[in-house]
Amino acid sequence: MPVKIGSIPLPDFPLLLAPMEDVSDPPFRFVCKQNGADLMYSEFISSEGLIRDAIKSRQKLDFSEFERPFGIQMFGGDEEALSLSAKIIDAVQPDLVDINFGCPVKKVVCKGAGAAVLKDVDLMVRLTEAVVRSTALPVTVKTRLGWDEQSKNIEEVAERLQDVGIKALTIHGRTRSQLYKGEADWQLIGAVKNNPRITIPVFGNGDIDSPEKAVVYKERYGVDGLMIGRSAIGYPWVFREIKHYHQTGSLLSPPTIEERIGVCLTHLQKSVEWKGPVLGILEMRRHYANYLKGLPHIKDYRLQLVQAKTQEEVTSVLLEIKEKYLQLNPVQSRPNVLNHVSDCSFTDKPTCFQNSAGFTTVQ
Ligand SMILES: Cc1cc2nc3c(=O)[nH]c(=O)nc-3n(C[C@H](O)[C@H](O)[C@H](O)COP(=O)(O)O)c2cc1C
Repeated sequence: MPVKIGSIPLPDFPLLLAPMEDVSDPPFRFVCKQNGADLMYSEFISSEGLIRDAIKSRQKLDFSEFERPFGIQMFGGDEEALSLSAKIIDAVQPDLVDINFGCPVKKVVCKGAGAAVLKDVDLMVRLTEAVVRSTALPVTVKTRLGWDEQSKNIEEVAERLQDVGIKALTIHGRTRSQLYKGEADWQLIGAVKNNPRITIPVFGNGDIDSPEKAVVYKERYGVDGLMIGRSAIGYPWVFREIKHYHQTGSLLSPPTIEERIGVCLTHLQKSVEWKGPVLGILEMRRHYANYLKGLPHIKDYRLQLVQAKTQEEVTSVLLEIKEKYLQLNPVQSRPNVLNHVSDCSFTDKPTCFQNSAGFTTVQ
């Protein structure tokens, strides 16, 4: 059954690209869209930053028509700031506005935003109402199961947010205390979806890293669609692979080396177009390790890529990699990136960096 968020039509079993700070910017979203993402979100934007007109916050409002349907995500703990931000977002006309009530990092929760709001459902309801009243766009929420093991209140949260007008809910199957540790628990996501009082679409999120898992979880928990984050980093093909498996029951071959390099080049091109030649090259550095994951003896090339200073230099190294690995014809397999991004506990280890929200990602 096709899914609708307000009046936005989505296909049957839609796949959503998760908002990811310092990752899901327009260049990354472009390659995810090309490879089958049905709905994408901006990185989260501080409502305080937006109303202060901070350049970084404003830049995150940028998107292209190609990306539609597209949602802008914001966070905040103050009714007025969220309400004003919703109006600012309205003006750039995305397809929907999402509120982040799930960010676990200290500097966000200390300000009473993100997952902190899970500790006060009345406040969450007031904040959500303020946003719903301030925009004509459909409002969605992304949150977690609860603050900690002892206070998993997502079932109450879902009902109360639906009652004040949200049009879809995405649930990350962890509590705030878990951060990104352990396995996501989907039982409660399923309980929310199967609550007869809940009529809005419910999207499940957390640890989806293969077509098989995606389809099993869809069937087991009955969710309307899936949101995918870390598995798409350096592997935007995850969307088309899940779709193919869902539709045919057979696994699509992993991308060839030509495809991997081709998509990496497109990402680079979009990065330079959107950020300019200096920042565009610099910020692409965090993606190469993931695009090249699993290729044997790739370390030296990776080093060359992160040292290259111009688009031409990077392009020439990437083309050399393509030629070399075409001849070697390595067995292509889907890299497992979940651990890579959350704790970097993998053998082929890229360096980690913490983005400004404190999320650990790879460089
Ligand atoms: C680098 C990084 C940045 C993230 N930034 C955001 C964000 O801006 N907003 C948000 O709601 N969640 C953010 N998240 C959480 C993801 O959206 C998602 O809920 C989480 O990664 C679990 O999904 P996954 O297992 O598919 O990765 C971020 C996660 C990572 C790894």
